[in-house]
Amino acid sequence: MTVYLNGVYLERAQAMVSVDDRGFLFGDGVYEVTRARDGQLFEWERHARRLARGLDGLSIAAPAGLAAALPEISERLLRENSLEEGDASVYLQITRGAAPRTHYFPPPGTAPTIFLSASRLKLPEEVRARGASVITLPDLRWGRCDLKTVNLLPNVLAKQQAVVAGAFEAVLLQDGLMIEGASSNTFAVVGDVLRTHPATPRILAGITRDVVLELATELGIPFADEAVTVEELAEATEVMVTATTADVMPVVQVDGRTVGDGRPGPIARELHRALLARLERWTARAAP
Ligand code: PDD
Repeated sequence: MTVYLNGVYLERAQAMVSVDDRGFLFGDGVYEVTRARDGQLFEWERHARRLARGLDGLSIAAPAGLAAALPEISERLLRENSLEEGDASVYLQITRGAAPRTHYFPPPGTAPTIFLSASRLKLPEEVRARGASVITLPDLRWGRCDLKTVNLLPNVLAKQQAVVAGAFEAVLLQDGLMIEGASSNTFAVVGDVLRTHPATPRILAGITRDVVLELATELGIPFADEAVTVEELAEATEVMVTATTADVMPVVQVDGRTVGDGRPGPIARELHRALLARLERWTARAAP
């Protein structure tokens, strides 16, 4: 497999990052996971905007011209790794670079570390067909969850608890509200209204979340970006999670309690179909 590291395309096993890299030492960096279909990046401009906000939020200066080069690098990785057909994802990470360890920033001019790789995306279709189960856990994260940083320890620990419990996702709760998933955004249908947490610093506003909200408008599904309380979650007729690596995933069990009639709900299925249709139109439009 070919990956990109600091200006060079090389075999994955040959790609080495310094032990002084601040991504390794501090989780001091940002990342993006972009969906690709038939060699084309889906909704790249939105990922680019979120990445730029993240870099700005961490005061990491990306090299001039990098933003413009990222789609080309990604598409080349898709080609070189035989991912020009079907579903793939591109992982991108930018850290503050390698420098002797100090908590404060390294000297100006320290080159950020830039890494990209592409891989086959296997969407969880079997889980989607029967519906996912989730567990709820307290949200132990910091106050800037809107920045997509690689500092993911609370997310990692929550996801592991979900896996041990045989669940697809851990839904994080704070102050009696559903915040988001360990690696996804969460939605619930409460009184016929599709609800999700507003895009505040408490959540990572997912690209899939944004697209789903647009699709809800197009489809005439009433929605509100108003957080769902734990009590409302217990009464919700549908629950779903969204992420680049899962699309729209209907949830049929929360903490062992059945949601609705225990089958994937109509709104989740409709939004998933609409998302796939958008992806197909996108790919057709972008095709040479
Ligand atoms: N994570 N919230 C969190 C905490 C996430 O980690 C993710 C995605 C999302 C959904 O964002 P998007 O729709 O842009 O994928 C929400 C990626 C997929 C990951 O860490 O692998």
